[in-house]
Amino acid sequence: MSSTDSKTTISSRENLPAPAVRAVAGFREKFATEATHVAFAPGRVNLIGEHTDYNDGFVLPMAIDRWTAIALRRRVDEQVVLHSLDVGESGAFSLRELAPGKVEGWLSYAHGVAGALAETGITLRGWEGVVASDVPMGAGLSSSAAFELAVARAFSAISKIAWPWDAVMMARVCQRAENRWAGVNCGIMDQLASACGVAGHALLMDCRSLEMRPAPLDARLKIVVLDTAKKRGLVDSAYNERRSQCAAAAKACGAEYLRDVTDVTLEKYRATMDALSYRRARHVISENARTEEAFAAMTQGDFVSLGVLMNQSHESLRHDFEVSCSELDVMVECARKEPGCLGARMTGAGFGGCAVALVKADTAIAFTANVTRAYQALTGIVPAAHVCRAVVGAEVTKLAS
Ligand code: GLA
Repeated sequence: MSSTDSKTTISSRENLPAPAVRAVAGFREKFATEATHVAFAPGRVNLIGEHTDYNDGFVLPMAIDRWTAIALRRRVDEQVVLHSLDVGESGAFSLRELAPGKVEGWLSYAHGVAGALAETGITLRGWEGVVASDVPMGAGLSSSAAFELAVARAFSAISKIAWPWDAVMMARVCQRAENRWAGVNCGIMDQLASACGVAGHALLMDCRSLEMRPAPLDARLKIVVLDTAKKRGLVDSAYNERRSQCAAAAKACGAEYLRDVTDVTLEKYRATMDALSYRRARHVISENARTEEAFAAMTQGDFVSLGVLMNQSHESLRHDFEVSCSELDVMVECARKEPGCLGARMTGAGFGGCAVALVKADTAIAFTANVTRAYQALTGIVPAAHVCRAVVGAEVTKLAS
């Protein structure tokens, strides 16, 4: 699948997503002039393949119809000036000062993208923009990756010398921004999904070669994202801890990455490992296998098997990898009780955030109502539910010359 497109205008002005329309109107109000471009990038939900990306393994996410958009216009100086409608804050940074640590908070993601782009040798120009998003923040749907990719698209739109939009390269740039500038040690999945999404498809991603293969979703099914509304506590420290446990487990099996360890090898080394390392490795190795099986099932239209694999993934994440929490377990149980549900699991890093369910389309409305009601009755927390479509990755549209 090609990752390069040289077009700057993909969507037309007429079919912009809601946050893009809001950003354009917000720009007019904030800067008393018209924006020339609007860039927008989607969040993502991962169907299966959790905590495998940083083990050089396989993931199967899809870009979802929730976006972060930036309406923008070029500036003559070397400043980037941004106003966020959702945060209700403005901020600015200079393209002359792009060292990590100079900017904090939400703006650090934009600053990081500028810094990581500059490191590739690209000459950047200043711009001002207004940001609007409907990707829920802090829910594990990759609001930060969506923001990063929208910023990258914004820079590409107003650059003096056109540089080709290479979606995979841009995902890597944005991951570097998140790792080094925002200080979050994530893998490549979120940025790759936001950059490379394919409408109507999930994408099997090989996180070593970065090769991607689209897997079609069936119109008779819906992907429902169930937000536990549980704030993700300790996620950074626990995430980093899992990363080092995986690296240690791989080393104990004589490999650099768990991707290269088979279940046979793991059993061979079992006696030399502590029980925790063994369980962490067992999750990653079995999850990689499940993810490849899930892709095969989707390409064969076997969504019953996909649902079963999703259920197994949750159990493995819960017991072997220990990144679920009581709210996620309750949500998954409520979802599985519904007759139209083929499978459900936690999605993303864990410790709160969202579950994802595969649901028969004709039951989706009842499913959403019943699951949210049952979850609230059991936990006392008001959840949110999003029925999602799979959409294309980051885009930019020219509004005026
Ligand atoms: C977060 C990270 C991803 C990935 C998932 C777990 O979303 O950003 O890189 O590791 O957790 O699968």
